[in-house]
Parts: sequence; C-alpha cells; structure tokens
Amino acid sequence: MPTAIDVSSVAGLIAVGMFTAQILLGLLLSVGYNPIRHWPRQRWIKLFTLHNWLAYIGLGTAFIHPTILLASSDAGFRPFDIAVPIWSPTQPIPNTLGAIGFYLIAFVVLTSSVRRVFGRHRWKQLHYTAYGAAAVFFVHGVWADPLLKNRTPDFIDAEKVYVEGCALLVVAASAWRVRQRTGPRGRSAE
Ligand code: HEM
Repeated sequence: MPTAIDVSSVAGLIAVGMFTAQILLGLLLSVGYNPIRHWPRQRWIKLFTLHNWLAYIGLGTAFIHPTILLASSDAGFRPFDIAVPIWSPTQPIPNTLGAIGFYLIAFVVLTSSVRRVFGRHRWKQLHYTAYGAAAVFFVHGVWADPLLKNRTPDFIDAEKVYVEGCALLVVAASAWRVRQRTGPRGRSAE
C-alpha cells in the first residue's frame, strides 16, 4: 500500500512532466509553430488551448503534491510548513525551493489570466519568469529526498534521471528557441 509520502512524490514527478510539456508548448507558441502546416499536420491541435489548460492542471497538481503530506503523521508537516517550508521538519532548503517554484508558476499563471491588463510587451516580460521557475523546480526535484529522510540525492536513481532529462529537454529547447529568434530568418525579440 503506497504511503502519503509516496503519493506526494509521484504527484511531484507528474507536475514536473506537465511543466516541462508546458514550457515546450510555450516555446512552440513563441516561434509561431503551426501544427496544421508542420508535423503532426492535425487541425484539432490547438497549441494555445493546450498551453492554457496545462497551466491550470499543472498548478493544481503542484499544489496537491505537498498538500498530500498533511495526511501523513510520519512526515509531520503542518499547513504552515507547506506554505512556508523554511522551518519544515525535514530538508527545509529543497522544500523552500519547491515552494518558491510553485509561487513563481502561480505568478506566471495569474499574470497570464489577466494579461490584457498589462499589454502584450509587459506581459511577455513577466512571462519570462517561467524560466526562473523552471530552474528552481528542477533543482528542487533533483535535490529533494522522496522519502523525506534528508538523504543526499542519488543522481542516477530513475526518478532523478527523469527530472534531469526534463531539465535537459528544456535547456535544449530554449537554446533552439534563441537560435530561431536570432538566426537569419528569426523573429525579432519582443
Ligand atoms: C494561463 C496561463 C498561461 C497562458 C495564457 C500563457 C500564454 C502564452 C503565450 C500566448 C505564449 C506565446 C508568447 C509569444 O507569442 O511569444 C506563451 C509562451 C510561453 N509560456 Fe505561457 N502561458 C501560460 C502559462 C505558462 C506557464 C505556467 C508556464 C511555465 C511552466 C509557461 C511557459 C511559457 C514559456 C517558457 C513560453 C515561451 C516564452 C518565450 O521564450 O518566448 N506559460 N505563453
């Protein structure tokens, strides 16, 4: 029978996958990728709609990930330790990084849901916070001990390799995006 700590860890891994997909979709949107003219040549794929929905589902999953720990007497977390984990019972630093990542993503989602208030240029600048959030939650995902026992991370453990793979994918796709923008036929930066 999986414990609340196990379920929390799986929810965290799912959230990392969703945010990775989210950033890749955002990068495709930013270069104007058209899935009707290019692969997979499907009319029903709406990148913006996917990007929009995944934002809310990902944020919900990231919220559930630590909240599940409240159901575990072994973890010993109080609601305050979830919101501000700096004094949390175990691994306070990686937990705090996770919380910062969550708040940064919440900021990106919130500012996007009211983006007309800011105007496109200012909203876009705020949206770059997504890259900062990604850096923070990838470090959190690699560093945090899934058993909450303060063990040093095993970088070749399957779960850690998955998070590292997601991070590499985001770095590679972001480098590709920068080349698209600055290449001979690239769109100008806004
Ligand atoms: C309601 C929520 C969101 C909306 C409406 C939204 C909308 C958009 C749009 C329209 C673009 C394309 C901008 C362009 O044309 O250049 C974009 C790009 C992007 N989005 Fe989002 N987004 C949302 C949430 C998120 C979240 C939660 C993340 C991160 C996990 C994210 C990461 C990105 C990234 C990395 C880009 C590419 C930025 C660039 O390098 O130009 N977005 N988003």
